Amino acid sequence: MQRFESKVVVVTGGGGGIGGATCRRFGSERARVAVFDLNFAAAQKVAADIREAGGAADAFDCDITSRSSVDAAVAKAEATLGPIDVLVNNAGWDIFRPFAKTEPAQWQKLIAINLTGALHMHHAVLPVMAARRSGRIVNIASDAARVGSSGEAVYAACKGGLVAFSKTIAREHARHGITVNVVCPGPTDTALFAGYKEGAGNPEKLEEAFRRSIPLGRIGQPDDLPGAILFFASEDAAYVTGQVLSVSGGLTMNG
Ligand SMILES: NC(=O)c1ccc[n+]([C@@H]2O[C@H](COP(=O)([O-])OP(=O)(O)OC[C@H]3O[C@@H](n4cnc5c(N)ncnc54)[C@H](O)[C@@H]3O)[C@@H](O)[C@H]2O)c1
Repeated sequence: MQRFESKVVVVTGGGGGIGGATCRRFGSERARVAVFDLNFAAAQKVAADIREAGGAADAFDCDITSRSSVDAAVAKAEATLGPIDVLVNNAGWDIFRPFAKTEPAQWQKLIAINLTGALHMHHAVLPVMAARRSGRIVNIASDAARVGSSGEAVYAACKGGLVAFSKTIAREHARHGITVNVVCPGPTDTALFAGYKEGAGNPEKLEEAFRRSIPLGRIGQPDDLPGAILFFASEDAAYVTGQVLSVSGGLTMNG
């Protein structure tokens, strides 16, 4: 399928687990992929893999917590690849600790990456999308936003905020032909998940508990996510906006 022929797609955190899988899938569907990441080496690796497979991709050094870094990376991506058709806000970070044992400095970091970073990206990209009367935004939240998750209070607050923000932007920009939707992963086998398993003290026990609570009986893999993300980014989803979809093996079943 070549649904994204010549479309310019930005994926933040594109050097990571879910972001990397998403970039590679866009690349295989002929998009021109801008891999944004704070970890530039990881972004370069993903872009190189896409080019090696015959696709088009470039890596961009971007810290989404810094507005000047976001503006510079967006300007560079547009100059290199053209105006942005699709934005996937995927970069994220977490620590796994009961709220009472966290410090305000940790809240600030969680909020800066998981909420403010996405606001910066929307603010930088929306004006051009609105002027072109076309755009697709897919925000990666978490099932923690929908049902809560012990040890992830501030992260869950940010992701819940991202869901509410997405619905509002979906309303504000529907008249500009821009859709905004949300994908909520459940526990997925990436560096982030490895980190919070370690933070819990007994990684094997935590993973087993997650596995038992997931109806489809396994932890997610990064490649479980791109199908839903690319659907929201595609023309097939032209009449879908402000929606939230869990991709979590049935862990949460929302009405
Ligand atoms: N893995 C899970 O179990 C899980 C569950 C629910 C939601 N999510 C969400 O999925 C998304 C992807 O997470 P992942 O599991 O692939 O994690 P990951 O750690 O593999 O990838 C995250 C990427 O984000 C990048 N990043 C972090 N801070 C950044 C910043 N300030 N600027 C730019 N890039 C930055 C990292 O360098 C990394 O490459 C995140 O939004 C995460 O919250 C993951």
